[in-house]
Amino acid sequence: MKAREIRPKIYSVRAIDWDRRLFDALIPLPDGTSYNSYLIKGSEKMALIDTVDPTMDGVLMNHLSQLGVENIDYVIANHAEQDHSGTIPRILEVYSNAKVVTTPKGKGMLMDLLLIAEDRFITVSDGETLSLGNKTLEFIHAPWVHWPETMLTYLREDKMLFPCDLFGSHLATTDLYVTDEGQVYEAAKRYYAEIMMPFHTKIQQHLEWIKDYQIDIIAPSHGPIYDKPSFILEAYRGWVFDPPRNIVVIPYISMHGSTQKMVDYLVGALADRSVTVKQFNLSVVDIGKLAMALVDAATMVIGTPTVLVGPHPNVAYAAFLVNALRPKLQFVSIIGSYGWGSKAVEQLRGMIPNLKVEVLDSVIIKGFPEESDFRALDNLAEAIAQKHKAYNFV
Ligand code: FEO
Repeated sequence: MKAREIRPKIYSVRAIDWDRRLFDALIPLPDGTSYNSYLIKGSEKMALIDTVDPTMDGVLMNHLSQLGVENIDYVIANHAEQDHSGTIPRILEVYSNAKVVTTPKGKGMLMDLLLIAEDRFITVSDGETLSLGNKTLEFIHAPWVHWPETMLTYLREDKMLFPCDLFGSHLATTDLYVTDEGQVYEAAKRYYAEIMMPFHTKIQQHLEWIKDYQIDIIAPSHGPIYDKPSFILEAYRGWVFDPPRNIVVIPYISMHGSTQKMVDYLVGALADRSVTVKQFNLSVVDIGKLAMALVDAATMVIGTPTVLVGPHPNVAYAAFLVNALRPKLQFVSIIGSYGWGSKAVEQLRGMIPNLKVEVLDSVIIKGFPEESDFRALDNLAEAIAQKHKAYNFV
C-alpha cells in the first residue's frame, strides 16, 4: 500500500497492524490497529509527525523511500510510548540531520526509553511554533493523553490537528478517513474507555482549549482520520462531560451457581424497575466491553463467590482494573456468597479507593440464595432505582 496524500504535501505514512490482538499486554484489540505517522513537506523543511511501532519500521521506511524523502529535518514526537516513538532511532540513524521535537518531559522519557542522545533533541514549550517555510506547526502541551509528556501538534495553514493517542481508535482499515461512523464510534469508545477514561478530567480541559482552534481535519495516531472532526469531538464531549446514565454494570463470577442465581435475580429486579443492566461474566469477558459499559454507567454491582476467605481472583482483577480506569460511577454495591466465612466485601472495598462513590448495602449470603436473600436483592434494586431517579440519570 502506498503513502496517501491528505492535503498537498501532507502524507499519511502509516503502518496497519491487522493481526495485533493485545496492546500493553493488557488491552484486547479485536479489530487490530494502525500506527499513523504523517509526513509534511514544507517549502523549506521536512517534518515527520510521530513514527510507527518498531515491529513495523520497514513499512514507514518504505513509504519514505517511495516518496523520495532524502532529508528529514524534524521528527515531531507527540508521545513517547513506543508504538509511536519506537522507530525514531531508526529515523535518526538514516536521516542524520534530523532532530526530535518534543516537550521537555518527552525528551527525558525518550532518552530513558530509547536511549536517544541528548544532542538530537529540540524541546518546545506550550504554544511554541516551528516554521517549515510555507507551513507552521504549533505545539500544544496536553499532558495525560495518555502519558504525562504528551502534546498535540496543530498545522496552522491546513487547520489540521495531530493529537497522537487522543481521539484515536484501534481499528485496522484500508480507509484513510472515517467511512463507517458506527464502526468507528464503537472502536473510538472502546479506545477512550481503556486508555483515556482515567484522565477524563484532564481531557475536559483539553477539549476546552481545542475549542479555540479552527480544525478541518483531526489526524490521530491510531485508526482512520476524521475529515468531519465534529463527529469525534461531540462523542468525546459526551463521554467526558455528560452525567452517568441509568445503567448498572455487573461484573461477576460464579463457581457453583449461588452468585449466578443472585446476579440473575438482581438483573431481573433492576430491569423491572426500568434500570438498564449490563452483566459481564468475568470468566469469559472481553474487558474492553466492560470498560466501554463503564463510560456511561451510574452504578456497579460486583458479584463474587468467596475463595480462601476473599473475593474470587478474577473479581479482584476486575475491581483493580475499574479502580484504575476511574469511571464516572456514583454508586457501588457488592453481592455474593460464601460457604463458611468471608472477608470478600472488606477486601473488595479496599481495592477501589479511586472511585468517589457511595457504597450501598451489600448482599452476602451463606450457601444458595433463599427467599429472604431475594428480598434483600429486591431492596438493593429498589435502592439503586431510587438513587438513579433522585439524580435524574436517564
Ligand atoms: Fe498509542 Fe500511548 O500509545
